[in-house]
Amino acid sequence: MKYKGIIFDLDGVICSTDHYHYLAWKALADKLGAYFDETINNRLRGVSRMASLDIVLERYDGTLTEEEKLAAAEEKNATYRELLKQMTPADLSDEVKTTLDALRAKGLLLGIGSSSKNTRFILGRIGLGDYFDKISDGTNITRSKPDPEVFVKAAQFLELAPEDCLVVEDAKAGVEAALAAGMDAAAIGDAVSCGLATYNLGRFSDLLRVVE
Ligand code: BG6
Ligand code: MG
Repeated sequence: MKYKGIIFDLDGVICSTDHYHYLAWKALADKLGAYFDETINNRLRGVSRMASLDIVLERYDGTLTEEEKLAAAEEKNATYRELLKQMTPADLSDEVKTTLDALRAKGLLLGIGSSSKNTRFILGRIGLGDYFDKISDGTNITRSKPDPEVFVKAAQFLELAPEDCLVVEDAKAGVEAALAAGMDAAAIGDAVSCGLATYNLGRFSDLLRVVE
């Protein structure tokens, strides 16, 4: 086996929360009178909440104080968490669950490396609350992807050396973070087009071929 552990990004890899992020940012942008669309939302992939807010505010004519920015981010998050309550174990695809189970059966450790502070809430919603061996997320980092911190911490939690870990990512910033951490990266979805990853996955189950 090429690796001892696999570290998965959450949003866009294990499950899809893009649309909920979109709706919650859109509600905030509408309130501020700032233009916001799906193309801008795509730029928020892998980016921390506060950095996402700065991108949303690029189209805002006024200025917000630091305090107002924190309140705006908090408001977006409250809307987002309300929407996340719609998620159920049905939002976990059979392909993802079957592939995860097969990877675990091969003896690989499975971890999460996500910028999201809602990671545990989302995993709970989709029925994976106790599934992963270790979780590194937005609650234990100070620097967001493309900084490698979230993956470095994930490997530490798993007690693995970086070179024994493979990261699975759907965002360019996440692929860059994995490589900066000294790990191989498998890109899926949007991240494929950045051309930086060690492997490009056509679909999630391709991971089974990559780890052999
Ligand atoms: C990432 C998402 O996983 O988490 C980003 O791709 C999001 O879009 C970031 O901004 C932070 O999420 P949260 O849940 O802490 O606001
Ligand atoms: Mg992602």
